[in-house]
Amino acid sequence: MSSGSPASASSYAPRKILITGAAGFIASHVTNMLIKNYPDYKIVALDKLDYCSSLRNLIPCRSSPNFKFLKGDITCADLVNYLLVAEDIDTIMHFAAQSHVDNSFGNSFEFTNNNIYGTHVLLEACKVTQKIKRFIHVSTDEVYGETDLETDIGNPEASQLLPTNPYSATKAGAEMLVMAYHRSYGLPTITTRGNNVYGPNQFPEKLIPKFILLAMKGEKLPIHGNGSNVRSYLYCEDVAEAFDVILHKGVIGHVYNIGTQKERSVLDVAADVCKLFRLNSEETIHYVQDRPFNDQRYFLDDQKLKKLGWQEKTTWDEGLKKTMDWYTKNPHWWGDVSSALNPHPSISMLTDSTDNYDTLFMKCGNRTETQTGADSGLKFLIYGRSGWIGGLLGKLCKDKGIVFEYGNGRLEDRNSLVNDVKRVRPTHVFNAAGVTGRPNVDWCESHKAETIRANVVGTLTLADVCKEHNLLMMNFATGCIFEYDKEHRQGSGIGFKEEDTPNFIGSFYSKTKAMVEELLKEYDQNVCTLRVRMPISTDLSNPRNFITKISRYNKVVNIPNSMTVLDELLPISIEMAKWNCRGIWNFTNPGVISHNEILEMYRDYMDPEFKWENFNLEEQSKVIVAPRSNNELDASKLKNEFPELLSIRDSIIKYVFEPNKKT
Ligand SMILES: NC(=O)c1ccc[n+]([C@@H]2O[C@H](COP(=O)([O-])OP(=O)(O)OC[C@H]3O[C@@H](n4cnc5c(N)ncnc54)[C@H](O)[C@@H]3O)[C@@H](O)[C@H]2O)c1
Repeated sequence: MSSGSPASASSYAPRKILITGAAGFIASHVTNMLIKNYPDYKIVALDKLDYCSSLRNLIPCRSSPNFKFLKGDITCADLVNYLLVAEDIDTIMHFAAQSHVDNSFGNSFEFTNNNIYGTHVLLEACKVTQKIKRFIHVSTDEVYGETDLETDIGNPEASQLLPTNPYSATKAGAEMLVMAYHRSYGLPTITTRGNNVYGPNQFPEKLIPKFILLAMKGEKLPIHGNGSNVRSYLYCEDVAEAFDVILHKGVIGHVYNIGTQKERSVLDVAADVCKLFRLNSEETIHYVQDRPFNDQRYFLDDQKLKKLGWQEKTTWDEGLKKTMDWYTKNPHWWGDVSSALNPHPSISMLTDSTDNYDTLFMKCGNRTETQTGADSGLKFLIYGRSGWIGGLLGKLCKDKGIVFEYGNGRLEDRNSLVNDVKRVRPTHVFNAAGVTGRPNVDWCESHKAETIRANVVGTLTLADVCKEHNLLMMNFATGCIFEYDKEHRQGSGIGFKEEDTPNFIGSFYSKTKAMVEELLKEYDQNVCTLRVRMPISTDLSNPRNFITKISRYNKVVNIPNSMTVLDELLPISIEMAKWNCRGIWNFTNPGVISHNEILEMYRDYMDPEFKWENFNLEEQSKVIVAPRSNNELDASKLKNEFPELLSIRDSIIKYVFEPNKKT
């Protein structure tokens, strides 16, 4: 429970909350906080995944069985009516909105549609279904209009609404409807009017993240007009706590300002960002044309919410520093946002930027949702039934209660794949089929046509069939398409990244895999490439297990490599499918481990008498046909998405040696 501990015996206790706009900035913080602090609450997150939202914002929730994400638009009455009944919602926290004032000077119809009509749809659905016990409507300080610079008295909640720009006008319009549904139909509404919020997860069209990203690139910070406009800024975690208090203690029919008395001019904000980045503010700040209308100030009376027990905790310096640290650590969170960093970004420049969410996307085709939990609605079609990874995947699905079927078709036979898709009607396809060679990749050197048929023609055909049927293909590929080079020296800790071009074609196997990876980039909308390396599993009796292999060799080379512990990473591949991850991923545990380090562990955990001999690469080349690749892959992209991912050493200990320990 959060430090304010607002949920007490006398407070409101929601059961199942619908949070609209949950993949946006503020709502994602509120959702993450509620899931963490209230394990009994169930949350359905609804978002249309507009340009300014990201499923990454909800990463902390995704493994919770109480969390479900639905991609959908609040303006769709059928969806909203259905949702309230089917999900048995008793509480709504309504954040979804077009929220960027600059855009409202351009395409204001979108603002009316989303902010007013969308709210109306929600209210009407509540009226019809009659099950809602709390409707928390999220509005803004901007509905009060401009505050005099001279006054010390903030707007109390009873003030008149005098919006000045199209955004705030639509927010005020929505409030009027909320008020009317409360009065006419007794809908239990509570409205919030908040000051500006800042912190991690915010789309960089907004002032603070924009300044931070520009400062990170050493670019100029644009100030609208003369920069004297004053705003009050609250840190996102404090705001999430305010919603916690309002949800549990807010009084029906009331309005609550969420405000701070600490104000800052836009110029001060720019100067503080310059200071944090040690930039000369006189050289860095530049002045651009003002907005068509730019309110001088929004000053709120914040007493009413304080009386409920809420308090702002984060100082400006602390909050700005935390925000800067977050953007510095996550520079690619929003992909390519160069157009949002313009002094006056407009929606028309941004509408395609959903393509920039290179890692996570939701499909709008035959399936519009991803969920977690047993009722996930997932159905996997898996190729590679008789293979190691394919077999493990099936077992994992069984354990997790995920419906799946193995494909009957041959990868190179298009019709057979289409028949499988029609028969199974999957939500996702996993490709763990292909030839790797038995007993090892040397087989491919003498079976080139067979290798091409399965690994090239087959994989590409399956990707194409998936594209035709709007399905995501999770493709188990290999990281053995790189070898240490001058820029990525052995022991340097600099690994190959997802975007690096393969540099190892020493074996025919690797050559075909590198070619396919290149061609699959043309299918980037529906293929997720997982570069597996030297797979390891808990089953030491399996001859394909890298540890089993090297423990049985007469002699081994001793080179550090990136490796994949399947017991840890295969469940992650299922998570990635649920979240519709796409593009290329180094699918290894972070770090490298050498053959000798593994064999030392083998000796310590399994057999104190175990001995082995090393030989060098030259000697090794005499007993193998094709050269082998040795490399380090940079696993930071995966680690970023799955922070709990263990280093290769820790993972091997946890999943292989501890469970098999004999000494
Ligand atoms: N950011 C601030 O400083 C601030 C201050 C006061 C009030 N507010 C209000 O708080 C709320 C959230 O603001 P934010 O800054 O997090 O905004 P945001 O732009 O980051 O998030 C808005 C979210 O709503 C979603 N959305 C928009 N239209 C939708 C629709 N028709 N159906 C489903 N989803 C839709 C978007 O995809 C996005 O994820 C808004 O209502 C805003 O007016 C924001």
